Amino acid sequence: MRKNIIAGNWKMHTSLREGVALASALDKKIQKHEGNIEAGVIIAPPLTHLSLIKQVIKEERICLAAQNCSSEIKGAYTGEVSAKMLKSFGVNAVIIGHSERREYFNETDEILTKKVNLVLENDMKPIFCCGENLGQREEGTHFGVIKSQIQNALFHLPANDFSKLIIAYEPIWAIGTGVTASSEQAQEMHAFIRNVLKEKYGKEIAENISILYGGSMKPANAKELLAQTDVDGGLIGGASLDADDFFEIIKFA
Ligand code: 13P
Repeated sequence: MRKNIIAGNWKMHTSLREGVALASALDKKIQKHEGNIEAGVIIAPPLTHLSLIKQVIKEERICLAAQNCSSEIKGAYTGEVSAKMLKSFGVNAVIIGHSERREYFNETDEILTKKVNLVLENDMKPIFCCGENLGQREEGTHFGVIKSQIQNALFHLPANDFSKLIIAYEPIWAIGTGVTASSEQAQEMHAFIRNVLKEKYGKEIAENISILYGGSMKPANAKELLAQTDVDGGLIGGASLDADDFFEIIKFA
């Protein structure tokens, strides 16, 4: 059965010292917590922090993810970091296709396909993001947009590779805006996504994939969102920068 996952995307926030303190505070909270933590916990700090943070967290409590990787294997690509490099210092998952990367760094479906392939080839988990903008939601094309984002970047994968993915639905209009999708809107889209996966890969794979919601999730709204049948966790930006808030959300999942 699929697992609930709470993932923190720190984006371009925290100095190295602040990042290490945040990761270590979170690790301690999980370690000291007396009840059961059901959810898998992932954090995606900035690239510069990954190798040091790896040393202050325990892999059995927190999985380390990167926010991006190169679409190329290696070579003369100044400033890029390859999937193989990430793997070499203990990263286990990579966020691919975040709307900020699609929008500000012109990442196309074709580029995302290459990245997903490289992440899988290097034995890491892609956390694949999809999401519509406000205009698309208002004109009612959001289901089609999400379906094509998933089809175009992922449907070349064989079933055994596809089953290693985590999907994150992040409506762009809810990211960093304080406006959350209602639990009905989230459930409706997550059920739609699961159905798209079912049509291509069958019921068993679709039922076992974790589909996370992202967009202004915080302790005040997480419980209701996470209670939805097809919402299997969250990809959290702002609230993941506060160990107390992030841990509150982890406890709901
Ligand atoms: P916020 O939680 O800050 O809205 O960000 C969501 C997000 O983009 C996570 O990837």
